[in-house]
Amino acid sequence: MDVKMLATSARHRSRTTATHARALARIVGNRQIPLLLSLSKNLATPVYRAFFLTSAAGHGVLRTLAQGPAGADELAAGLGIPGGGDRLRSWLDIGVQLGDLGFGDGRYRLRSRVAKALSRPENDAVSAALEEVVRFHATVLLQAPAMLRDGRRLSLGDQDGGVIARSSRIVQPFIEEAIARTLDRTSPVRLLEIGCGSGVYVRYAASLNPRLSALAIDLQEEVAEEAAANMARWGLANRVRTRHGDLRALELQPQFDLVTMHNNIYYFPKAERTAALERARALLAPGGRLLLTTSCQGGNAGLRALNLWFENADFGGPLPHEHELVWQMERAGFTGVSATQIVPGEQFRAFVGTNAHAFRTAQA
Ligand SMILES: C[S@@+](CC[C@H](N)C(=O)[O-])C[C@H]1O[C@@H](n2cnc3c(N)ncnc32)[C@H](O)[C@@H]1O
Repeated sequence: MDVKMLATSARHRSRTTATHARALARIVGNRQIPLLLSLSKNLATPVYRAFFLTSAAGHGVLRTLAQGPAGADELAAGLGIPGGGDRLRSWLDIGVQLGDLGFGDGRYRLRSRVAKALSRPENDAVSAALEEVVRFHATVLLQAPAMLRDGRRLSLGDQDGGVIARSSRIVQPFIEEAIARTLDRTSPVRLLEIGCGSGVYVRYAASLNPRLSALAIDLQEEVAEEAAANMARWGLANRVRTRHGDLRALELQPQFDLVTMHNNIYYFPKAERTAALERARALLAPGGRLLLTTSCQGGNAGLRALNLWFENADFGGPLPHEHELVWQMERAGFTGVSATQIVPGEQFRAFVGTNAHAFRTAQA
């Protein structure tokens, strides 16, 4: 290279460096860049993680990786994806980038504490609760203003009964505490559970009282079928009958000592709750009791999103206020109605009322 060429190259390099420096100054001076970086770290990344983990848990990938590291081809085969794992890699690599999966020697493994925890069967309710947030709460948060503007509403079909039955178990310790406080443990008890979901609370009641027999009903056919399968699996099929049905249309004689409704009063529109409670009361023998547990108004962001979902549904209504539900139970003919906050600070209540007069009807 001669002297002239050297000089030209040096001039070019210094022009390039100056161009880079000016570009950098423009970028650093742009106020949107720090905002973008902050959003990416504090908002977008947690959202991506929530979505990735929901998908990985829901498709069984976390459970598979809990057995040991696996390659993309093996994971693709497990998921029934034809043609190997090449196209699944982009999805898996996002998990690696987010820190939830690790990768080495051509195989993926669980890495983050959250991914490991969600892979455990005993944390299934938490996994389902995350899925509820991602699939249903996020949808209503995104769409509520437009739905209100366009007069659109959510319907029961916009939910996934199986996921909701699993996620509802997040409050299992509270509900079991309420059942333990209410249930007679020695006399024979005829229990009617309305909206039984997976059936875990009937199982719990049956475990506390060996003389208890039950009818468990659920509005959604696939949920009732799952509950029936669970009863058989738990060896309770001879004590618990399971039926697909709606409380409002159920043809039964008043015969039950205890009626339970867990996590479903908001499946009834506010104006129809007294009638639904009256229907539940009418199925109780004289002296029988209703135990109703529910999240109430005023809770955390998750409960407010749940409230928003049902407020915008065409079949349900908002979470109840404690005083309002007590009043509705009294109007439905229950006596001695009590409301108990089972866990201090949590907006979760157990309501108990007695059917003193078997055939008393609600006033207007
Ligand atoms: C949020 S899930 C709760 C399931 C279960 N009770 C639990 O706590 O795990 C509410 C359930 O109530 C059922 N349900 C709602 N309205 C009902 C009705 N009118 N009659 C019977 N079941 C009903 C739904 O189908 C759903 O499975």
